[in-house]
Amino acid sequence: MATEKTTAQSSDSISSVLSERRKFPPSAEFSSNANVSSMEQYEKLYADAAADPEKYWGEQAEQFHWFKKWDTVLDWKPPYAKWYDGGKTNICYNAIDVHVKSWRKNKAAIIWEGEEGNERILTYGELHRQVCKFANVLKIAGIKPGDRVAIYMGMVPELIIAVLACARVGAVHNVIFAGFSAHAITERVNDSRAKLVICADGTRRRGGSINLKNIVDEAIVNTPSVRSVIVLKVTNETVHMHDGMDHWWHDLMGLAVDDCEPAQLDSEHPLFVLYTSGSTGKPKGILHTTAGYMVHAATSFKYVFDIKDEDIYFCTADVGWITGHTYMAYGPLLNGATVFMYEGAPNYPQWDRFWDIINRHKITIFYTAPTAIRAFIRAGNEWVTKHDLRSLRLLGTVGEPINPEAWMWYHKYVGQEKCPIVDTWWQTETGGIMVSPLPGATPTKPGTATRPLPGIMVDVVRKDGTTCDANEGGYLVIKQPWPSMLRTIYGDNERYEKTYWSEFQNMYFTGDGARKDDDGYIWIMGRVDDVVNVSGHRLGTSEVESALVSHESVAEAAVVSRPDEIKGNALVAFVTLKDEYEGDMKLREALRNHVAKEIGPIAKPDEIRWAKGLPKTRSGKIMRRLLRELATSNEVKGDVTTLEDFGVLETLRGQEDEN
Ligand code: WTA
Repeated sequence: MATEKTTAQSSDSISSVLSERRKFPPSAEFSSNANVSSMEQYEKLYADAAADPEKYWGEQAEQFHWFKKWDTVLDWKPPYAKWYDGGKTNICYNAIDVHVKSWRKNKAAIIWEGEEGNERILTYGELHRQVCKFANVLKIAGIKPGDRVAIYMGMVPELIIAVLACARVGAVHNVIFAGFSAHAITERVNDSRAKLVICADGTRRRGGSINLKNIVDEAIVNTPSVRSVIVLKVTNETVHMHDGMDHWWHDLMGLAVDDCEPAQLDSEHPLFVLYTSGSTGKPKGILHTTAGYMVHAATSFKYVFDIKDEDIYFCTADVGWITGHTYMAYGPLLNGATVFMYEGAPNYPQWDRFWDIINRHKITIFYTAPTAIRAFIRAGNEWVTKHDLRSLRLLGTVGEPINPEAWMWYHKYVGQEKCPIVDTWWQTETGGIMVSPLPGATPTKPGTATRPLPGIMVDVVRKDGTTCDANEGGYLVIKQPWPSMLRTIYGDNERYEKTYWSEFQNMYFTGDGARKDDDGYIWIMGRVDDVVNVSGHRLGTSEVESALVSHESVAEAAVVSRPDEIKGNALVAFVTLKDEYEGDMKLREALRNHVAKEIGPIAKPDEIRWAKGLPKTRSGKIMRRLLRELATSNEVKGDVTTLEDFGVLETLRGQEDEN
């Protein structure tokens, strides 16, 4: 099993092979209307912020409503930060009330389209009424500031309503992606000791539906902290409502009034916990707090997406991930933007669903993941070219490195060679975008997230913490605290310190390898720890290993990744069975399904290879590097001198055809 620490890989340098020379400056037309309109302006902003970060972040915070202004911008006792200490605010108030008091009251906040094509529009005024009502429901349910609330539902506006209502009353939301299994819910609910679960009866997926309430029923058998469950009717599933425990959303909303004073919360009041994969089996509850998160979510959205009141912004991420939190819910709403939200699958009923949506709703900004782009490329250009996409003016990507071919395709077919592409690098832990072009300023190059945002000090360093030369591969670190940084891992300061702050002195370690090119552009080379990006979702290989080992037939398992054309990475599991079991196709399928049950379908290994033994060092550590080489090329070229038993390598080759 991996060690707790996010360790930089054993080799001292990381070699980088990519060389990309194409450069795409923004058009004069785009730049002239942009929030930041030239590289000179960006350089000045960046230099001023770097010279006095607290002044910069203080100024950025002025635009919000504060019940009480802060005393200090930053109180930094490494690695613990307090931002805007002494201040009192409410992020929900800033995301809706301030707009309701302005001309934006009747502006669309959320335009939602269901999988079946049905549509709902919530204006800021309507969103405000719904959020206030649901905030009162939370109070009726006995929720107090600081209480944790788990939310498990598909992509419907009520998901955002529930999140905002929690923020309004000071409850800490813990959104659990609706693709996660009962076991994964239990683990997250127990770790955060959630009092309440908000779920839907079901969620639509590719014309069918998934009964979410049944999954919650199974999950909360083992969660002593949960006192009640609120169920939203979405798909009309058959569900069992347990007396005293389960309540219908619509019944409770019927009891609540639409007037609810926002709680006046300390700047550092916890806002949400979101679980993400780390290098050990247990997911990490990333804790974000109120004011700092608010400031960066809003300013990064304004700069990176160059938002204008006329825009209709479509982010395809699920609210169950950080991208959905920051750039579907909080960032856009804090800016008074119109967000387009789609319920279902990108290929339902066919591969042109997104392009059809863009054309019908005249979407102007589109933000998606490289894995989706690669799937669209495979589906064929005709799905895109038959739609009129002229409304688009800006495109974005997130979640994993985008290969230059996919970038060029996105640029040509979706962006019609006129839309800037913002490749945005960030993490659940960073809360908001850290490295990205500013679309009216930065000339882009396919495959790089370019330069850090003003106020963000990133660097690429060697193992000893010294800055790498241009084009020398190294480790991506952040050298100064930033407002939306995670504050800790929920309930586990020690793990927080070890994971992020022990590898390099006084620097936050991202877990990513990177290099800076001659222009200072940052090229992400992927994770250097045991975390893998599969279809833009972060998975800890050791989580998948734990799931495999929990099956009765498995003695030991090691999971590594290999490159995959569509998903970015595919998971390959090397499994040693207990003596009495025989590895066959049936067991392979059973193990894949077992992982789906333990974690969720996204974590299913793409390939399972039977291993009589795993390659280990003499001290017993699994040599993952060898397994990665085997999984990728079926050969081991690297150094094997520390290998304990050479025989095991032979048996691991050549099982590809059987999968
Ligand atoms: C990867 C998603 C290259 C990276 C917001 C990071 C990226 C991890 C990019 C965080 C990008 C994210 N280019 N790699 N533009 N964006 N990553 O927490 O490895 O789900 O550490 O946050 O995704 O994944 P997470």
